[in-house]
Amino acid sequence: MPLPSTTIQQWLDRTHAMFIGGEWLPARSGKTLEVFNPATAEVICQVPAGDADDIDRAVTSARTAFREWRHSRPSRREKLLLDLADALEERADEFAMLETLDNGKPLTFSRHMDVALAIDFLRYTAGWATKIEGRSMTPSMPYAPSDKQIVAYTRREPVGVVGAIIPWNFPLLMASWKIAPALAAGCSVVLKPAEDTPLTALLLAELVESVGFPAGTLNVVTGLGHEAGAALAAHPGINKVAFTGSTPVGKMIGKAAMENMTRTTLELGGKSPVMVLADADIEAAAAGAAQAIFFNQGQVCTAGSRIYVHEAAHDAFVAKLAEHAKGLTMAPGWEEGATLGPLVSAKQQQRVLDYIGYAREEGGQIATGGGAGRDTGFFVEPTVITGLAQNSRCVQEEIFGPVVVVQTFRDLDELVTLANDSPYGLAASLWSNDLSAIHRLIPEIDAGSVWVNGHNLLDPSMPFGGFKQSGIGREMGDSLIEHYTEQKSVVMLV
Ligand code: NAI
Ligand code: MG
Repeated sequence: MPLPSTTIQQWLDRTHAMFIGGEWLPARSGKTLEVFNPATAEVICQVPAGDADDIDRAVTSARTAFREWRHSRPSRREKLLLDLADALEERADEFAMLETLDNGKPLTFSRHMDVALAIDFLRYTAGWATKIEGRSMTPSMPYAPSDKQIVAYTRREPVGVVGAIIPWNFPLLMASWKIAPALAAGCSVVLKPAEDTPLTALLLAELVESVGFPAGTLNVVTGLGHEAGAALAAHPGINKVAFTGSTPVGKMIGKAAMENMTRTTLELGGKSPVMVLADADIEAAAAGAAQAIFFNQGQVCTAGSRIYVHEAAHDAFVAKLAEHAKGLTMAPGWEEGATLGPLVSAKQQQRVLDYIGYAREEGGQIATGGGAGRDTGFFVEPTVITGLAQNSRCVQEEIFGPVVVVQTFRDLDELVTLANDSPYGLAASLWSNDLSAIHRLIPEIDAGSVWVNGHNLLDPSMPFGGFKQSGIGREMGDSLIEHYTEQKSVVMLV
């Protein structure tokens, strides 16, 4: 077992409660869920197993809070979000350690990616609170009495109570992605963290309380997806559901939401292609491709899990990529120098190992990796697979682990066909300095984000979301306001 700081150990040792209407409460049923450290497979604490009853209580609290919060001054909402960012920054090391113990990711990534990006996102989003605008119009309305003037404008109003359901791959960051825009826009929130990683959301709720957000503006209900999550998505008292997770669950949530005409944004799975063109610097492309798939143990919706490299460069590229894979240090996240942690759960580890098995059955060759690599914890070795056909499972399905398939292409037309031959359309990266090839490819690729000579180039200012089965709607940038507000048209005859 690692040695987390005494403060974190004391925090873990507490009896954990959910945050509902400004109070810390157990599940009404009294049931709890075990929380695992994926590097040791040990239980580190228990959290309440909230269900439909608790969700109902949380939605009621959020509705009550919304009545006043919706009219709060934008500058107050901005200040509270900035205070939250400061509070998170002050306790960044604790959050990072907690994330590593719960999710497994290497501590340096928890600290310098997850926590740092959450702080950055809170600050960016705080600024939007004071920049929500409508427009004034001049309608003609020939039927209006000719002695009247027409005053017309639009206003953006908070969409209402937001149900947020988030995954386990970036627990704190995903919580911030949902909470911050909702609170900035004047919405209240019921957040359901993933059952595998509920801890940083609970600690974040403590900060939300301490900086002075009114009771009920944020509620956190821990619990299972098919219990608490399903109850939240189907609750008639919410106005919007913001979900990040798998495509099958996203579809269920979308259908449940549609029953009440609840607004949805769905950020779902991906199978993002990494395209290495004929002119590419193979060294740089292999290093970038390694990061694109092995970052966060490959548990990233935008992971570069399919590589298409020009046929002339295939062997040299695979050799370099395998070198990068072997250069990773697979270890518990708190160990010095760890660059690849365990996967989040035994279930996820098994799922990923099963995919490596399908690749073997379908004629793939394992260039490196291929097994768990360690006896304790939910690890999977960084794995590079070659020789698979485009219709093989590992090329078509989201694996969500440190496993990548390398294939070849001959010309740009073939590349476009292969890259788009996927049910998903979240992201893509191009590795080249051939400007005309790059500009010809960008409009052809079915993806919500396209990156050139880099991968995972996300920023709060850039809208993020998917084409095809990767989801509906966008997060970040001005999409935040669009998706957390309703437009109202106002027309007066004066
Ligand atoms: P999941 O989609 O089941 O979990 C995501 C969230 O949805 C969790 O909070 C979960 O409690 C909740 N949930 C589950 N069932 C629900 C339901 N019926 N109603 C409402 N909420 C529900 O993902 P899971 O099973 O943990 O992972 C399976 C696969 O999903 C992964 O291997 C990966 O391919 C994909 N995935 C994709 C993510 C992404 O960021 N795009 C994140 C997590 C998983
Ligand atoms: Mg855990």
